[in-house]
Amino acid sequence: MSKIEVRNIFKIFGPKPERWLDAARKGISKEELLAKSGHTLGLRDISLSIEDGSIYVIMGLSGSGKSTLIRHFNRLIEPSAGQILVDDVDVVTLSKSALEKFRQQKMSMVFQRFGLFPHRSVIENVAYGLKVQGMSKTERRQRAQHWLEQVGLAGFENQYPHQLSGGMQQRVGLARALATDAEILLMDEAFSALDPLIRREMQDQLLQLQAQLNKTIVFITHDLDEALRLGNRIAILKDGELIQEGTPEDILLAPANDYVQSFLQDVNRGKVLNAAHACNAPSLTLTMRSRPAHAAERMAGLDFDYAAVLDGKRLAGILTRSAAVRAVQEGARDIARYVQDMASVPATAGLDEVLARLLRSTEPLAVTGEDDEFLGMLSRSKVVELVTPAIEGTEPFSNDDMAEAVESSGTSSENTDRSVA
Ligand SMILES: Nc1ncnc2c1ncn2[C@@H]1O[C@H](COP(=O)(O)OP(=O)(O)OP(=O)(O)O)[C@@H](O)[C@H]1O
Ligand SMILES: [Mg+2]
Repeated sequence: MSKIEVRNIFKIFGPKPERWLDAARKGISKEELLAKSGHTLGLRDISLSIEDGSIYVIMGLSGSGKSTLIRHFNRLIEPSAGQILVDDVDVVTLSKSALEKFRQQKMSMVFQRFGLFPHRSVIENVAYGLKVQGMSKTERRQRAQHWLEQVGLAGFENQYPHQLSGGMQQRVGLARALATDAEILLMDEAFSALDPLIRREMQDQLLQLQAQLNKTIVFITHDLDEALRLGNRIAILKDGELIQEGTPEDILLAPANDYVQSFLQDVNRGKVLNAAHACNAPSLTLTMRSRPAHAAERMAGLDFDYAAVLDGKRLAGILTRSAAVRAVQEGARDIARYVQDMASVPATAGLDEVLARLLRSTEPLAVTGEDDEFLGMLSRSKVVELVTPAIEGTEPFSNDDMAEAVESSGTSSENTDRSVA
């Protein structure tokens, strides 16, 4: 079940939005609408689903509508048209008192510039939302203390925000949002004001907390590296429109247009993509008990130079075609004695790491999952294709050229892609 369901939201800012709704539906541009009517198109026909327990990232340039969209979720902004369902309840229809309760219990927000009360101590800031929930003073302090410890701020309870660094203030903001125990966390550029090192630390901390808490987090950022690191899914907005929506891999591997591509330019693809993305599913696997004649025949038929040998689901090793032929000649009953060790990489290994290994050696590499499960063979040409973004205005290198370039560093004639296990 999706936690937040956004259905055909339009937002037009100005005195008479309903008058221009039809034009917005028909596709009038943001500039034309502004010139004609003085109204600003905030969002045009946005629909998306945010799954329970996921981190959903909203990206886009300044003015693209990110804050406008997220503020619809707790109805800080009313839509000009459309629905927002949270746990199947349309928030647009909530009465004033129901809305107040909904905001206190369902959602909490972390702001870009911390939004702390300067005249309240750190612990009072964290406990603030709990007072509104009607919690007793002792309980509030206990809860606030717990969350301060969680974000690494034990000992700073009685300091004031101005006595803390930016990163620490942002942690206070995060502790305050977490303390309310809301199921949904809205984070509008929450880490943007932090320097890169602290920012990365905060991302790690958020991921760690999320692994324990399993909240639904909507996270706005300008930064694609951050989006790719945190997001289970990413939505990209431009001029109030949804340009692309998908998993980080979807966006990285198939950007919808130049706008999305422009975000991707500086991304370290080798870090985001991993061995699983460059793995060929096995088309032939053997076991230790396989008969030599059968093994040799299958490899010859498929023109494979080798095949993976499994023990249950686990990778036991590799059998080369020449070893299979030898086993036949020597009259062996099975291939067990002819199996050699095969090097492997975990599916989660970043392609940058994998590429370094490929350049060092031409031996075939298996990709393994949890408990050493054999997933397939690493494809050299896929690795090269994935880490090499298409260069604008030029024909991308063909896979074969690039694979050859990588492979020419070795002497083996084995082609990993052809000799898939
Ligand atoms: N209250 C408002 N009245 C009029 N126009 C508004 C209002 N709020 C936002 N807008 C307009 O809606 C558009 C989207 O603004 P929004 O703040 O959602 O952008 P954003 O993607 O969050 O940008 P940033 O990255 O700079 O925070 C902009 O053109 C902005 O001028
Ligand atoms: Mg904004």
